[in-house]
Amino acid sequence: MNILVIYQSLAHGNTEKIAKVIASNLNAQISKIGEIKSIDLLKFDILGFGSGIFFGNFHSSILELIDKMENFSGKKAFFFSTSGMRNIRIFHNFNKKIRNKLLEKGFEIIGEFSCRGYDNYGLLKIIGGINKGRPNEKDLLKAEKFAQNLKKL
Ligand SMILES: Cc1cc2nc3c(=O)[nH]c(=O)nc-3n(C[C@H](O)[C@H](O)[C@H](O)COP(=O)(O)O)c2cc1C
Repeated sequence: MNILVIYQSLAHGNTEKIAKVIASNLNAQISKIGEIKSIDLLKFDILGFGSGIFFGNFHSSILELIDKMENFSGKKAFFFSTSGMRNIRIFHNFNKKIRNKLLEKGFEIIGEFSCRGYDNYGLLKIIGGINKGRPNEKDLLKAEKFAQNLKKL
């Protein structure tokens, strides 16, 4: 299986930690979003997309990349994120947009992963931020398990 993990990690490098664990467990190629221009995405069987959550969504660079992509029917995708808050479906469903965009492009979605990441945006600075030290060892282990489960599919 030819797998590529594409990620953006702007705020604290939180998502990069998760991206690296997932990619190494899947023996996948890994690229930060700015590096993928020269890569033929169609040569991969599975694409993974990851970023922090910004104002309730995956980073715009990830969403815009998916918008620009052609039809990927027959290919598989998974996505992952780090965020200050947990995904709460009814009022803060940050997976919805990326999931719909991937489905529109014809992908079969084979997995979704999310964990907390250090967040000191805005007023959180006053208290020194939340989720200090995260993703932590436990989070990385969960990411490893997520990747191992993808392998079984
Ligand atoms: C400008 C900004 C907006 C953010 N918006 C949200 C948000 O809407 N929901 C949330 O749970 N976390 C939010 N966060 C926290 C980030 O998602 C979190 O710190 C994430 O782990 C950053 O990942 P990165 O270091 O890989 O970029 C925000 C952070 C920043 C800097």
